[in-house]
Amino acid sequence: MENYTRIAKLGEGTYGVVYKAQNRQTGLIVALKRIRLDSEEQGVPCTAIREIALLKELKHPNVVELLDVLHSDKKLTLVFEYLDQDLKKYMDGIGGGIEPHIVKTYMYQLLKGLAFCHEHRVLHRDLKPQNLLTSSRHELKLADFGLARAFGLPVRSYSTEVVTLWYRAPDVLLGSSTYSTSIDLWSAGCIFAEMVNGSPLFPGTSVENQLERIFNVVPLPPEDSLGEGVELPVGVGDACEPASEAPVLATTLGEVVPGLSAEGVDLLGLLLVADPAGRITATDALTHPYFDNVLDPSASDSCLAGASATD
Ligand SMILES: Nc1ncnc2c1ncn2[C@@H]1O[C@H](COP(=O)(O)OP(=O)(O)OP(=O)(O)O)[C@@H](O)[C@H]1O
Ligand SMILES: [Mg+2]
Repeated sequence: MENYTRIAKLGEGTYGVVYKAQNRQTGLIVALKRIRLDSEEQGVPCTAIREIALLKELKHPNVVELLDVLHSDKKLTLVFEYLDQDLKKYMDGIGGGIEPHIVKTYMYQLLKGLAFCHEHRVLHRDLKPQNLLTSSRHELKLADFGLARAFGLPVRSYSTEVVTLWYRAPDVLLGSSTYSTSIDLWSAGCIFAEMVNGSPLFPGTSVENQLERIFNVVPLPPEDSLGEGVELPVGVGDACEPASEAPVLATTLGEVVPGLSAEGVDLLGLLLVADPAGRITATDALTHPYFDNVLDPSASDSCLAGASATD
C-alpha cells in the first residue's frame, strides 16, 4: 500500500471503496479497490484469493486489467488499470441517448469482452453501466469481472444502497440458481436499450415490479424452461401469452427503442429472451448484421474519427 499515493475517491460500490491513486515508483495512475468483507475478523477467505488470482490472467483489450492484488493485515486491495469514466457518468453527461455509431461501437466492445470472459468460464453476474468503463477515445472495458463469484453477490452495497435489479435476467429474478453465461447477455440487452434511449429500460422497484416490466415487453418463457419449482408470481405476465402461442404483448420491442435501426432491434430481441437457453451467446451476437459497419477503437488498426452517421 505504501507504493501508492491516493489522489481521489472515485466511488463506493458493492464491495468497498474505489480510489484513484498513483504508483510512487512508476508514476502509473491506477484504481485501487479496497474490498470490505463481512468476515473481516477472520481475514480474507482463501476461496476468494484463489478466484482473484485467476482474474489476473484475464487479459483482453475490453476487460479492465487487474494489475495487482495487495493482501495484508487481513485486508484485500485490488489494483486495476484506470479509465477516465464509466458509462453511467458518460450518459449522465450527455443527458439523453448516445449517438447511434457510438452505441454500436460500445455494444461491440461489450460483447467482445463478454465473449472472451465467457470462453474462460468467468461470468460477471452484475453488469450495469457503472461497471462499464470508457475512455475519451470511446474504448469500452468491462470492470469487476468475476468479483461476484469471488465474494458473493450481496443484496446491499457497502454504502447500504440496495443493489439494482434493473439489469437482472428474469430467470435469476425468478430464483433460478443455475447461473450461466446467458445472465450477462440479458444485462447487455438492457444496457443496449439504455444507451439508445438515454434512460434505463426496466427500472423496476421490486422483484415483482421488475418482472412485470419485463413481461410487458418480452414474451414469457415456456414454463418448463424456468427451472424446477420456479413459478411466475401472480399477476406477472398477464399482458402476454406463453411464447409457444402467438405472443400478444403490451408493447413491442421496436416501440421501446424508437431510435434504434431495424437490425439493432433484431439483435436486442435476441438478447432479451426470457428463456436463458434461447438467449444469443456473446460470440454469436458479434456476427450479427447490426455490426457490419462497426468501428472498434480498441482494435489497434481502427479509428473512430472516420465514423459517419450512416448507421
Ligand atoms: N478501474 C477504474 N478506473 C476508473 N474508475 C473506476 C474504476 N473502477 C471503478 N471506478 C469508478 O468507481 C465507481 C465505484 O466502483 P465500484 O465498482 O466499487 O462500484 P459500482 O461499479 O458502482 O458497483 P459494483 O460494486 O456493483 O461494481 C465506479 O462506478 C466507477 O465510476
Ligand atoms: Mg463496479
